[in-house]
Amino acid sequence: MKVSWAGLVGALASALAIPMDRFHQTSLPLPSRIISQMNETGSFIENIAIRHSGALLVTTLHPSASVYTVERPYSNSPSTALVHTFDDANGLGGISETSRNVFIVAAARFQGLATTYPNTTSIWELELSGRGAAARRIVRIPEALLLNGLVSVPTTCKPAVLVVDSRLGVVFRVDVTTGRYEVVLDVAELKPVETGPLYLGANGLDIRNGFLYWSNSELVSIYRIGIDRAGYPLLGAEVEKVATIEGAGAVDDFTFDEQGNIWAATNLDNTVVVIETDGRQTVVLGSPTELTVAGDTSVEFGKTAADKHILYVTTSGAVAFPINGTIIEPGKIVAVDTRGFY
Ligand SMILES: *[C@@H]1O[C@H](CO)[C@@H](O)[C@H](O)[C@H]1NC(C)=O
Ligand SMILES: *[C@@H]1O[C@H](CO)[C@@H](O)[C@H](O)[C@H]1NC(C)=O
Ligand SMILES: *[C@@H]1O[C@H](CO)[C@@H](O)[C@H](O)[C@H]1NC(C)=O
Repeated sequence: MKVSWAGLVGALASALAIPMDRFHQTSLPLPSRIISQMNETGSFIENIAIRHSGALLVTTLHPSASVYTVERPYSNSPSTALVHTFDDANGLGGISETSRNVFIVAAARFQGLATTYPNTTSIWELELSGRGAAARRIVRIPEALLLNGLVSVPTTCKPAVLVVDSRLGVVFRVDVTTGRYEVVLDVAELKPVETGPLYLGANGLDIRNGFLYWSNSELVSIYRIGIDRAGYPLLGAEVEKVATIEGAGAVDDFTFDEQGNIWAATNLDNTVVVIETDGRQTVVLGSPTELTVAGDTSVEFGKTAADKHILYVTTSGAVAFPINGTIIEPGKIVAVDTRGFY
């Protein structure tokens, strides 16, 4: 007897009373729920990092340079608390962990959502312990205009981060111990579009399998370049375009799932998009006219067994581009169950 694979799956599905479409069709949008929301309209959550305990750390770009934590984000009663507000700044960009419980953030004094005052940008270290949070300024970067995505170099023996400037269109490498910093990448694919509405180039950063990846908001694309273990671009390495997000007006931060698919926040389109390794793209959540992930800024998967299938999405509440022209809300954190995608 010849039994087809589809026949086998069908028999199994009916034996287990599972709807057949589970096996070949993603049910969209993916289920999601709000686990935390700021109290003030205009509160703009910019970036997210996840602690080994599973707690979330998020940064705010407005109204203050603050880090909040969400404990037990996957439980029925997640709790949000302020961790720290930085001095000499009113907004934060990216956040990344360099060693257990030590996080690096970019801070500045902003005069608009994407404009800082000259010579107000610093890189800070935030060390969390049972007794609270201790902040230390690592270095001022006077020439910075808009530090945004920040990623720690996972393979280096001396802790370092790469941080991208969305206006200058360059990647800085910062030695966290000495405070020494330098421009390590300066290419066209990092730059804003001269006529772009926000004048925002490279935005999110990530490192995976020996490549530095970045999104460029106004080019609506994701690029990569080979780097060495210390985080420097390889000699002679060329920039490759990984994907252009179809039908979107912008792309903000992104992350990878275990299979290597890219999950990206589109911000101005209020959607989360998956770019599979074969290039296929799917909007899995949100739409331009919905508040579900209004003005989504960054995404990260959970780190514990209980929530590694959960994608946490931070939002700005659509302040940069209000829904239907007028609707905004305070920034929030949305938990998305991604199991239905696979
Ligand atoms: C918002 O206000 C409520 C009630 O005062 C409080 O419980 C909650 O922690 C606040 N949220 C934030 C993000 O500060
Ligand atoms: C930047 O600000 C710092 C601290 O206020 C000051 O010491 C330094 O001279 C300034 N640098 C430039 C280039 O203006
Ligand atoms: C925006 O307008 C569309 C079309 O009228 C409507 O369906 C949608 O609910 C509106 N969005 C919000 C968040 O009110």
